[in-house]
Order: sequence, then C-alpha cells, then structure tokens
Amino acid sequence: MIDPAEAAKRLAAARAVDLVMPGMRLGLGTGSTAAHFVALLGERVAHGLKVIGVPTSERTREQAHALNIPLSTLDETPELDLTIDGADEFDPQLRLIKGGGAALLREKIVAAASTRMVVVTDRSKQVATLGRFPLPVEVDRFGLESSRRHVIAAGQATGCAGTVTLRKTSDGHVLVTDGGHAILDCAFGSIPDPDALARALNAIPGVVEHGLFIGLAKAIIVADAAGVEVIGDLT
Ligand code: A5P
Repeated sequence: MIDPAEAAKRLAAARAVDLVMPGMRLGLGTGSTAAHFVALLGERVAHGLKVIGVPTSERTREQAHALNIPLSTLDETPELDLTIDGADEFDPQLRLIKGGGAALLREKIVAAASTRMVVVTDRSKQVATLGRFPLPVEVDRFGLESSRRHVIAAGQATGCAGTVTLRKTSDGHVLVTDGGHAILDCAFGSIPDPDALARALNAIPGVVEHGLFIGLAKAIIVADAAGVEVIGDLT
C-alpha cells in the first residue's frame, strides 16, 4: 500500500515534470518531494530528454548523478530556466518556509538564479500563517550563541515568540550544512509579519541565510488524494 502523502508528492512531481522542455537548464531541489521530481526527470532523460541540472544539495547531486542527469554548476550555468523544489510550508501569498532538509542556502541561491521557481508539495504544507514549522536559520559557526540571541531578538521585534535551538544530528552532533554552517530552528508557532522578520534576520551579521522564501515561488503545485491544484502562475 502506497503511503498517501508519498502518493501526493509523486503526483505533484509528475505535474512539474510536464513543465520541463528540451534544452532547459533546471534547478533541482532537495527533500522527499523534489526527489520524486528528480526520479521522474531521470526517466525522461533515459528516454532521450536533453536538459542540464544544477542540484541544490550534495544529496540531490548524488541522486541525479546516479540517474545520469547531466549536471552543471551555477559557475558554468549561472542562469536557469526553471527550479523545481519542495517546501516545508507555504501561505496564500506563495511565501515559503524551507530548510527542513538543511539545504536552504543553496536552494535560495539556485531559486534566485532561475527565471521561474515552482514548488511541489502535498496539502499538509499549506497554512494560513507561516510559522507552525520551525523556521530554519543558517548561521556561521563563529559566535553561535551571540547570533542565536540576535535571532531571538529579531523574532521578538517582529511579533514572534518561541524557542530558538541549534539543530543536531540524530547522533547528537551539531548539524553542519553543505556550506559548512549551523542551523538554528526557530519554533515561533506563528510568524505574523514574514517580510519584517526576513529583513530583521538579514541584518544579523552571523546569519548566512534564512528559510523564508519571499517573492521567489511563481507557482505551487499542491497534491492530495483529490488530485492536483496549481496556485499561482505556471507559465
Ligand atoms: C530542504 O532543505 C527543504 O527546504 C525541503 O525542500 C523541504 O524540507 C521539503 O522537503 P519534503 O519534500 O521532504 O517535505
């Protein structure tokens, strides 16, 4: 029996694969939903589709490489046509929380290099107000505790309250991202003004990047047992 959440993710990913045209330069997202997209893309490539992919994480690079999807970097291919990625949450304004998989920095760089970012997700990620999912904030490992306090203060100044904790791996070590940084998870519960919080976090020197993706997603393909809904503009 297929898990309904996985089936929904696969459905969203399948709709996204239909957006891929020959010759496209693609940003390849990270996470379980993006992995469905990469798997389906690999099938098309095996049948002769010509594309180039720029992965947003080492994990995705390994998956795409194993599927013989031709890969590039943003140094070789600095402008992309389309990025397909997942999200941890999205709101009615297509604002996202990302970074549950710790890939938010590369994900944001790749999305910003793309003409279009389209998000693939299941219905469970849809919220009226962002913040139920703890907001990941990528920070330099130098001055961690100082940066953590600045992040708490940025939250308080923009109407957010909650604990801010350093992400650890399952074996208890500090999680280190592909870029060599740490992640602070902000359990705010609700983020009343994501734009203000994003600005406040950007102003903290130790913050490398945060998981609020604002103005990046052009459309969200959201799937559930009833089928696929497109929010936003797929063109
Ligand atoms: C990776 O850092 C994240 O931004 C993922 O895109 C996000 O966590 C979604 O992952 P799932 O598709 O596994 O829910």
